[in-house]
Amino acid sequence: MAAITMKNIVKKYGDGFPAVNDVSIDVADGEFMILVGPSGCGKSTLLRMIVGLEDITSGDMMIGDRRVNDLAPRERNLAMVFQNYALYPHLTVFENIAFPLRLAKMPDEEVDRLVRDAAETLELTEHLDRKPGNLSGGQRQRVAMGRAIVRKADAFLFDEPLSNLDAKLRGQMRTEIARLQRQLGITTVYVTHDQTEAMTLGDRVAVLKRGLLQQLATPRELYENPGNLFVAGFIGSPPMNFLPATVEGTSVQLPFGSVEIPADKAERAAGRGLLIAGIRPEHFEDASLADEKKAGSTFTAEVDTVEWLGNETYAYIPFEAPPEVTRELAQLEKDLDSEALRTQLIVSLDGASRIQEGQEAEIWVDGRRIHLFDPETGENLTVDRERAGRIAASEVSAH
Ligand SMILES: Nc1ncnc2c1ncn2[C@@H]1O[C@H](COP(=O)(O)OP(=O)(O)OP(=O)(O)O)[C@@H](O)[C@H]1O
Ligand SMILES: [Mg+2]
Repeated sequence: MAAITMKNIVKKYGDGFPAVNDVSIDVADGEFMILVGPSGCGKSTLLRMIVGLEDITSGDMMIGDRRVNDLAPRERNLAMVFQNYALYPHLTVFENIAFPLRLAKMPDEEVDRLVRDAAETLELTEHLDRKPGNLSGGQRQRVAMGRAIVRKADAFLFDEPLSNLDAKLRGQMRTEIARLQRQLGITTVYVTHDQTEAMTLGDRVAVLKRGLLQQLATPRELYENPGNLFVAGFIGSPPMNFLPATVEGTSVQLPFGSVEIPADKAERAAGRGLLIAGIRPEHFEDASLADEKKAGSTFTAEVDTVEWLGNETYAYIPFEAPPEVTRELAQLEKDLDSEALRTQLIVSLDGASRIQEGQEAEIWVDGRRIHLFDPETGENLTVDRERAGRIAASEVSAH
């Protein structure tokens, strides 16, 4: 096992386009690191540079204390677990796992011991004589991991391993990969564009946008303290609401009324004119059900659509936004690859709520959890930097 350190990594393809632009990420020994971002942000390129399938234009790629920029893939001792699993259909599961050991001309007894150990860990013992074609997707994935385990790779690299599976199997496999990674304690870098996978699997998550690192933090830090509009909109489902806002004293004026926020947050956003407020759907509640949560504010709004899911209720509340805000939000939608229309507020209420469509409803909101963003730069003015991991943009401006 080993740590993987990327220092100022740049990748320019033939046409000069910087697919990865000055990215620095340190993956600790044994850590589960996620690379996440919308299509084309450079995740696969970065992973391929780690494993050696793509040349590095500039920067240092370190595995342990070795600089590996100029080493061939096989000299790096990493295991890429491919999306299509790259198994040999004519070989048994046993021989598929044993493959790298046979190549290395390891004695039969030794091969047998290593393969059986790995199969035990992966719960594949009863399948050792079967052919990969007869296995489920999840079992095939484990065979591919088995091959990586027996050759004692320093790290596992995954590129969207679950993207072809249906939702149920994807959930099962996600749990399985998480369990195995913890059990084996092997350094792992995992690429996905799915924020749920990023949140549930990663010790830390690196969020990328157009080749640039945005924030590198734990899932909780990203959720509670997104460094900018992009990260705020990417992490969380349903996504964070973005509303036009102005701050007066310790209250924020929103299209529906004013909400009290903590003094330290208000101070950091004071005197800055029109801002974008970010509030997650789950930080609202039906006011009639929220009486014990005294800290927040309530407002009245006309509810357009209600979706009752049993355990929760989504209510949709349209609002008007000035052009400065709609322009920024349109750009954000493009960056996020999303089609969501953002001039309606989505609130997630208790399933017991009786709020009806077309009704004026009293809604409670937790003012402590409001974020305020600069509409020009997208920067989160109210972020708690102690609990936000690394926010890449602020590192650049600090130099
Ligand atoms: N061989 C190549 N030649 C030129 N440009 C490339 C090449 N491979 C990738 N790119 C460009 O580099 C950028 C990053 O591509 P990459 O495949 O790393 O994205 P990704 O984040 O993995 O996206 P996805 O989620 O769609 O897999 C894209 O703009 C892409 O067009
Ligand atoms: Mg990719």
